[in-house]
Amino acid sequence: MATSSSACSSYWVVLGVAVVLAAIVHRADARAFFVFGDSLVDSGNNNYLATTARADSPPYGIDYPTRRPTGRFSNGLNIPDIISEQMGSESPLPFLSPELRGQRLLVGANFASAGIGILNDTGVQFINIIRMYRQLEYFQQYQQRVGALIGAEQAKRLVNQALVLITVGGNDFVNNYYLVPSSARSRQYNLPDYVKYLISEYRKLLMKLYNLGARRVLVTGTGPLGCVPAELATRGTNGGCSAELQRAAALYNPQLESMIKDVNTKIGSNVFIAANTHEMHTNFVNNPQAYGFTTSKIACCGQGPYNGIGLCTVVSNLCPNRDVYAFWDPFHPSEKANRVIVQQIMTGSTQYMNPMNLSTIMALDSRS
Ligand SMILES: *[C@@H]1O[C@H](CO)[C@@H](O)[C@H](O)[C@H]1NC(C)=O
Ligand SMILES: *[C@@H]1O[C@H](CO)[C@@H](O)[C@H](O)[C@H]1NC(C)=O
Repeated sequence: MATSSSACSSYWVVLGVAVVLAAIVHRADARAFFVFGDSLVDSGNNNYLATTARADSPPYGIDYPTRRPTGRFSNGLNIPDIISEQMGSESPLPFLSPELRGQRLLVGANFASAGIGILNDTGVQFINIIRMYRQLEYFQQYQQRVGALIGAEQAKRLVNQALVLITVGGNDFVNNYYLVPSSARSRQYNLPDYVKYLISEYRKLLMKLYNLGARRVLVTGTGPLGCVPAELATRGTNGGCSAELQRAAALYNPQLESMIKDVNTKIGSNVFIAANTHEMHTNFVNNPQAYGFTTSKIACCGQGPYNGIGLCTVVSNLCPNRDVYAFWDPFHPSEKANRVIVQQIMTGSTQYMNPMNLSTIMALDSRS
């Protein structure tokens, strides 16, 4: 009896050591992931806020593993979820989630909030949302919490070695400049000057992110803003994209890319990676069949022309097969479209990912 029990307990000791070692190894090579931006990447922060910009009721989440709405503006997974999947990690929790504590903190955090823009006055109509400067303050708070858990030195390393994604800018057009005819911003600036102003404000945000320790940051441009179902329904003519919003995207995206290049040159390192989401989206907008979509014009969930009017709610039209729709709701891609985008982020040529794609980044950073 005695021998068997001691054999048994030594087995448990060995197993215990193996588990602890596995946990340490896991922690050492798992890369944290931080997400900033708007509804394209919000994983549920707005559920905790008094705002109208939320995706916390059905049919949102209809294809999510739990089949429940989570706050993601998708039928299933969003872009950050699929990037986490590619990195072999869990999705980072929303910063406002009460479950974001203990070991879960080491996975990273998602600070994104639907409705926000580069500018502080973007999305004011949604009332209580987490503007970019606030997201960055929360990132500081997060670092203090992680420091208390693993020590300041380790926390700094975790942040320096993390992958960061920032997706913002579309709302500065849709929910600001073009929100109402002759908006305050459109009376203040003509479009080219407004774009210049956005880029100069965005540069400040990126430098702040750098100063907070971010060293590998994917920066997405805007999609073809004028071609989303909402714009086809309200601003397009004869099924065409809204020329004005297309002009905005065409001005904005190249300037974003050259600003990123310039910031990298100043820093002396490829910290910021431009993801040409405009090109990625345009591919399936122009040629949906090539990506397995039957339509890139009609949203799966919505009402009115192109299902592009109003919100996606439980009383909206809902398509039976979300995988053949490029757009889930009037503004947001389906999980399937998000997968196409992440595939390009992973392996795209320099036309899509500049100066390099995420698979190259992952190989590079795992060696250093
Ligand atoms: C936006 O708000 C932040 C913090 O509230 C402030 O520091 C920043 O200067 C503001 N930006 C502009 C352009 O007013
Ligand atoms: C992107 O990823 C693929 C591997 O999937 C690689 O062959 C290619 O060279 C990469 N392109 C760039 C520009 O980094």
